[in-house]
Amino acid sequence: MEYKQLIHKLDKERMPKHIAIIMDGNGRWADLHKTKRVNGHKEGVKTVRSIVETAVEIGLPYLTVYAFSTENWRRSNTEVSYLLKLIVDSLVKEIDELIKNNVNIRFIGSKEELAKNYHKKVLETCQKSWINTGLHLNVAMNYGGRRELVDAFNLIIEDIQSGKITSKIDDELLSNYLYTAKMPDPDLIIRTSGEERLSNFLIWQSAYSEFWFTKTMWPDFSREEFIRSILDFQNRKRRYGSRGEN
Ligand code: FPP
Repeated sequence: MEYKQLIHKLDKERMPKHIAIIMDGNGRWADLHKTKRVNGHKEGVKTVRSIVETAVEIGLPYLTVYAFSTENWRRSNTEVSYLLKLIVDSLVKEIDELIKNNVNIRFIGSKEELAKNYHKKVLETCQKSWINTGLHLNVAMNYGGRRELVDAFNLIIEDIQSGKITSKIDDELLSNYLYTAKMPDPDLIIRTSGEERLSNFLIWQSAYSEFWFTKTMWPDFSREEFIRSILDFQNRKRRYGSRGEN
């Protein structure tokens, strides 16, 4: 079925507020096509573009994509440099189009290993979109869920010591110290390429998320499959530990 027809099947009352995606399989896609890994990543960017367009089209409020993890530094220098450059270059290339579509984009993750001028470039570019009220697009860059929690604990300790925090720590307080502060938790987490694990992605925020795993490699992940994953999500009963729908 055409994806426009699939969009009509979406139940507007049960739309997810936040979808997060582990974009996996660029390397295996490249192997299958007998080309270099970097070409898999290049194709992957095209998929990011079409999924962001679709997210805008269906009025999704939040989309988070896992672009580079704190573990990805272990790859070869060539691949790491290529990925870092591809990510910032894609941002710079697409920013005007994103702004035109009312997208509010930010990078979430740790600044620690990133060069100062890299971070500055990303920030300057993203800031231009921060008055936008449409899709909130998070690019998880040098992101690790454990690192995010450790960063949060350290900030909390600082604020306890300075007297800014006087209450006990609860779920809400901790959530507000994460990179995703003030954002809804992901309702649906998609992972492509057949792997079925979270790999240190949004480990706190995914406590009640639904999962959609597909064997499709990220460069082949289509708008149709994206909409199908949402249709499937809409048929699930979410219990949040209780017996009925919350
Ligand atoms: C996983 O494939 C993919 C990545 C580590 C990088 C994802 C990055 C992009 C699609 C590029 C740009 C993103 C933005 C937001 C512009 P893999 O290399 O782990 O594949 P493999 O598991 O088959 O080796």
